[in-house]
Amino acid sequence: MNAVEIVEVGPRDGLQNEPQTIPVEEKIALVDALGAVGFKRIEAASFVSPKWVPQMAGSAEVMAGITRAPGVRYMALTPNLRGLADAEAAGADEVAIFASASETFSHKNINASIHDSLARYAEVAAVARVPVRGYISCVTDCPYEGAVAPGAVARVAEALFAMRCYEVSLGDTLGRGTPEAVDAMLSLVCGVAAPETLAGHFHDTSGRALENVGVALSHELRVFDASVAGLGGCPYAPGAAGNVNTRALAQYLAAAGYDHGLDLDRLAEAETLARAMREGA
Ligand code: HMG
Ligand code: MG
Repeated sequence: MNAVEIVEVGPRDGLQNEPQTIPVEEKIALVDALGAVGFKRIEAASFVSPKWVPQMAGSAEVMAGITRAPGVRYMALTPNLRGLADAEAAGADEVAIFASASETFSHKNINASIHDSLARYAEVAAVARVPVRGYISCVTDCPYEGAVAPGAVARVAEALFAMRCYEVSLGDTLGRGTPEAVDAMLSLVCGVAAPETLAGHFHDTSGRALENVGVALSHELRVFDASVAGLGGCPYAPGAAGNVNTRALAQYLAAAGYDHGLDLDRLAEAETLARAMREGA
């Protein structure tokens, strides 16, 4: 069996970019609808500064209000020790730290250089009581600097693994990575990390996210992040569209002979909720 995993990140990566305030009850309903679909991991919350990302305020209430589906691990983003403490207190099953391969994006997104952010994340990872996932943003392109060198991604990946991240998710934050650029990046990164410890996180601004998944599959990656109804973007990546759409990704993987284990009929309710949030209904 050719097993792949789709990690649902819509309630975090999707909702963090919505212009309007989404009530906590609606966020809870979305996470609960996703809980019935068969995901093993759902990124449900983000314990970042509400001054920086107001859309993620109320994450503790979201974590407290959801009905935990059996077999699902609920993840939360944490930028620092305070975020970690809040995420653990809220019952996050694992946390994610998020670095960048681009210096300018790192400053814009978390107000720190890559070097300083990695030092901060090492402190977080050292005391975390739950598993820690790492993200790297701008793995091919940066909204401020343009093309990003694969070597910069490999260096950040090595640093995240050195601080005991169990997996590093490689983010095409802007969603403009070409298959050629993704291939060049993965050729280098797979030289410093085993592909089974890497995940692909493709935004879909240029409509090439599925092609990029195909490139990642050829490098033996088997974990991909996606967003219900293609929600999302990043508030500090102007112009970035949402993550690759969960349904489109699942269908693409199934057509390519991979078993994603999701019940796409049960995804429909979450899609309806997600679309209503996007349209501000
Ligand atoms: P800062 O301003 O340098 O930090 O922000 P600070 O320590 O001066 O704190 C500023 C204020 O925030 C203070 O409040 C802190 O208490 C508060 P004040 O004293 O002014 O009232 N604060 C917090 N509040 C709640 N929870 C916390 C927290 N920390 C500080 N954890 C900081 C630095 C990192 C906090 C800020 O820049 C931040 O929160 N950035 C997060 C940005 C973000 O969430 N971006 C989107 C997620 S990343 C992404 O989407 C990419 C990804 O999907 C992969 C990809 O696609 O590439 C993962
Ligand atoms: Mg993202």
